[in-house]
Amino acid sequence: MAADAARATPHLGVIGGTGLDTAPGLEVLRDEAVDTPWGVPSAPVQVARLDGWPIAFVPRHGRAHEYPPHAVNYRANLWALRRVGVSRVIAINAVGSIAQWFEPGRLALPDDLVDYTWGRPHSCWNGPDDDAQHVEFTRPIDPVLRARLIAAGRSLETPPLDGGVYGVTQGPRLETAAEVRRLRRDGCDMVGMTLMPEAGIARELGLEYACIAFSVNWAAGCGTLALHDEMSQHLERGAATAVALLRAALPAVADGEL
Ligand code: HPA
Repeated sequence: MAADAARATPHLGVIGGTGLDTAPGLEVLRDEAVDTPWGVPSAPVQVARLDGWPIAFVPRHGRAHEYPPHAVNYRANLWALRRVGVSRVIAINAVGSIAQWFEPGRLALPDDLVDYTWGRPHSCWNGPDDDAQHVEFTRPIDPVLRARLIAAGRSLETPPLDGGVYGVTQGPRLETAAEVRRLRRDGCDMVGMTLMPEAGIARELGLEYACIAFSVNWAAGCGTLALHDEMSQHLERGAATAVALLRAALPAVADGEL
């Protein structure tokens, strides 16, 4: 391994969601197989350059998309990123749209969430040896990191939508129409399965955290097409647009030793 590859310490971590089990354009410097108190992450962390900027990349669902949302080791993924030197995380998440203003194919940068997940290990503070940490979570998405993404997004042909509430469901099945009506009544603008417990654990670990959400379908009962047909229409392009936003933001969010 070249000397610089061994030394590289990215401060930006990127968690790739559905459609991003590998990240296009990554120049991988090394694979870090980090063991954590909670076992291994979804895949070894790739310490890499993207357009010359240092980043650490983990595919949330594994490189072969082997971990569905309820089976992702969220604690290990975030712990492993922190171990390689990451202090801020950009998560990329495919979602379904509930709000009329968020058409499938578009990006949004949510600023809040409602957590409907259950039974997922969701905290790093578990035992008598841990000081229970009641982390503040009033604003689950880091406002500064999100603002940097918004600013970078102005250079895109179609800028991301600014804000929105992400309702996090358990999956892996999709929702019923009545469940989506309830999400809408609760104030959710989009629905996905992966923002929690990820955002909460990031906060516990002191990591800045923001999410690029790309919509691949109208949520159950909100559109006219069969959900899977609609998803396959938008997935590839949505993931590519999310990566375009990430790349545009790199000068403002990626630093560290290379
Ligand atoms: N529901 C939940 N998760 C999703 C959806 C959806 O409609 N689309 C993409 N991820």
